[in-house]
Amino acid sequence: MATLNSHYLKLKAGYLFPEIARRVNAYAEANPGAPIIRLGIGDVTEPLPAACRQAMIQAVNDMGERASFKGYGPEQGYTWLREVIAHQDFQSRGCEVNADEIFVSDGSKCDTGNILDIFGDDNTIAVTDPVYPVYVDTNVMAGHTGPANERGEYEGLVYLPITAENGFTAELPSQKVDLIYLCFPNNPTGATATREHLQAWVDYARTHGSVIFFDAAYEAFITDPSLPHSIFEIPGSRECAIEFRSFSKNAGFTGTRCAFTVVPKSLIAKAADGSQVPVWSLWNRRQSTKFNGVSYIIQRGAEAVYSPAGRAEVQALVAFYLENARLIREELTAAGLAVYGGVNAPYVWVKTPHGLSSWDFFDKLLHTCHVVGTPGSGFGAAGEGYFRVSAFNSRENVIEAMARIRSQFSPV
Ligand code: MLT
Repeated sequence: MATLNSHYLKLKAGYLFPEIARRVNAYAEANPGAPIIRLGIGDVTEPLPAACRQAMIQAVNDMGERASFKGYGPEQGYTWLREVIAHQDFQSRGCEVNADEIFVSDGSKCDTGNILDIFGDDNTIAVTDPVYPVYVDTNVMAGHTGPANERGEYEGLVYLPITAENGFTAELPSQKVDLIYLCFPNNPTGATATREHLQAWVDYARTHGSVIFFDAAYEAFITDPSLPHSIFEIPGSRECAIEFRSFSKNAGFTGTRCAFTVVPKSLIAKAADGSQVPVWSLWNRRQSTKFNGVSYIIQRGAEAVYSPAGRAEVQALVAFYLENARLIREELTAAGLAVYGGVNAPYVWVKTPHGLSSWDFFDKLLHTCHVVGTPGSGFGAAGEGYFRVSAFNSRENVIEAMARIRSQFSPV
């Protein structure tokens, strides 16, 4: 009989968001007509920018003419998209990132998992706690951990707690780690990283020969001009970092699928024989073997994000969700809850009241307010006692959800 990758059997229950959907669907079936408002998964609700749609329609028409028809595209993405990204997202902010260091893909979630293909199995891996669960689960799948303990922590991973006590900053590990996942603005806490904070990480990584996986999927939500949008704004980062970006949350591409990963050509890692190899060459090899690129139509839509009209529409979308986040913060604070994040991020991180566990608070909100959020413990042991509220929804739903919560909770 064929055997399985037994590392998958170490994974806890289902992946967090499908697990929440399963529980919500069970509740909805048992309570038909319950007016459920979903502020759980960070999935966008507002329509795609018109500039992107028009570009995609034009691209569909291109596909209808022999002269402009496209078959397989470059696995790394079309040059015109890579160039506009390099220019507008990086060079215009003073970052030295070239078009050929940008790899267009169908999602940051996929890329943060796939990147493990090109790194060794003997690396020590650090994640923050709480953390976007994909970083942990993909390492479990790759066999980089032992089993989970009763708190859900996997043997072999280095967890860096981010809590209210340390201002939700990931402190440098006391031991040497080889791969470090950082996400700023942070999912799930909504916290941000200052230039000094990222510089400390870059210095740490360069001292120890570590690689930082920097997930910047939420960079568009940064409103504070002093905060860096990219790790490549930090001196020395080209020698130690890979950055993941996405069109999902800024331009509403969660269903459309387009993202990119920046791998600097100056990033070097060690082969088993001790030789030093550019990480770029392995990622390029991996992508050209296992990936056939994002469709021409979608890449044309992504390119339109950088047009004057697209930029204005994306800014308006981001401002819309940030206003939702502001309302959530204001209303939950008025309800007597302690809230964090939600200023430079679309997520509000809430301390559960009355010592309730994260899942107990999830059930209470679902049953009494018909509002869905995400239990903090689903993001890691240190998320226990917290709860994430997503600002991705219509204004009407956010206002209604907050009114229901206000009616259940009063300031203590
Ligand atoms: C989240 O809710 O954390 C995000 O939707 C996850 C993702 O983007 O994959």
